[in-house]
Amino acid sequence: MGKEQRGFSSSLGAIMAAAGGAIGLGNIWRYPYMLGENGGGAFLLANMFFVLAFGIPLIMSEFVIGRRSQSNVVGAYRKLGKKKGWTIIGYFSLISALLIYAFYSVVSGWTLNYIVLACTNKLSGLSPEQVTETFTTFTTGTFWPVFYQLLFLIMTALVITFGVQKGIEKVSKVLMPMLFLLLLFMCIRSLTLPAAKQGLHFIFHPDFSKLKMSGVLDALGQSFFSLSIGVGAMVTYGSYTSKEDSIFKTSTWIAVCDLLVAVAAGVVIFPAVFSFGMDPASGPELVYVVLPNVFNSMPAGTLFAVIFFVLLSIAALTSTISLQEILVAYTVEERQWNRRKSSIISMLVIFAVGIFCTLSFGPLSNFKIFGFTIFDLFDHVTASYLLPIGTLAMTIFLGWFYPKAEVKDEITNGGALKGNLFELYYFILRYAAPIALVIIIVSGIVE
Ligand code: PFF
Repeated sequence: MGKEQRGFSSSLGAIMAAAGGAIGLGNIWRYPYMLGENGGGAFLLANMFFVLAFGIPLIMSEFVIGRRSQSNVVGAYRKLGKKKGWTIIGYFSLISALLIYAFYSVVSGWTLNYIVLACTNKLSGLSPEQVTETFTTFTTGTFWPVFYQLLFLIMTALVITFGVQKGIEKVSKVLMPMLFLLLLFMCIRSLTLPAAKQGLHFIFHPDFSKLKMSGVLDALGQSFFSLSIGVGAMVTYGSYTSKEDSIFKTSTWIAVCDLLVAVAAGVVIFPAVFSFGMDPASGPELVYVVLPNVFNSMPAGTLFAVIFFVLLSIAALTSTISLQEILVAYTVEERQWNRRKSSIISMLVIFAVGIFCTLSFGPLSNFKIFGFTIFDLFDHVTASYLLPIGTLAMTIFLGWFYPKAEVKDEITNGGALKGNLFELYYFILRYAAPIALVIIIVSGIVE
């Protein structure tokens, strides 16, 4: 990739790619079950507050680091940090990205299996017990979950190989509008179900008595995971955005789209869950075990099942692309590998680690570290420690060591963009966000 073509070709492409990276399984798979477990509306409000108060400023900060340096996540800290020690934040990001991708690719692979099951009508006509059995038999198996995981990794690597503009940007520009349309369609369907009102009440009526401290922390952690903060994804994509774009506007778009998709996923899922008498608080299995039952009891359920799982896999794909690009940008720019070699080698490394996450549902399910299976350990360690620690390090670097004038210069495009929000942003970067992050990290350790 030559220097002159570095980056996305348009502002829209940048927003679609970055929003695609943020919108993923976190929105459609994780958010609804967390909402379900934490009592609905109050969780939504807490999450919304964190996205607006911290999410937008933190995305902006990663964009500043990426765009100012025009570099991958390690190169960015090397260039801006002057002292070599700062690159440690970059290497830390690479490890986080690798570990997230390792477990994320497992659930991404499941989406492909469910598309196949839905298309071949293997989900219809099953009793609830059989639906659960289908899920368990598949996830605890050896060959098929690994097969679908690998397939997903290959699909992702293929897009990456085509490059930033011809691969990532192009695919995002097609898939993201498709995702929005499919989601809208599913929302309309769900809103015409008998218990639509009850489902909406569950999502939008805040009952604060149901929200415990752990739920508030979940809402904060969820907002970081969902916005892909703290792994270098936004540093990398930020480095591909044009110097003419407004960092504030782009970041706001990303956060708002991400939030809307999460809420829309709730609107799709909960009216359906209530209409067909399922349990809204059924945890990570909500999407894979509860929803197939819902589709089964719906007219034209097979069609909606196919649409839903296609939607889920599109969301996952644009996110895995952003995860792998963090690694590929690093090896291309810092190690001078070509894109193809980078994509293939990083894919193989992720597969070598990720396969243990997949097998931790089956043959390795009794292998536990600190009481966690490998999958749960990766999920827990990244969400509760690595992301918050990575983000904290980033805010300390940008807020306390990097010159304020340069941050302001990057955010205002050299003074061309006016607005009085800079001081508020800088206050959040320097004080509010680091304090919130310390609280998450400490509470994670205490727990
Ligand atoms: N934000 C993605 C989601 O909500 O599914 C997950 C993710 C993608 C996290 C990319 C981190 C990342 F770098």
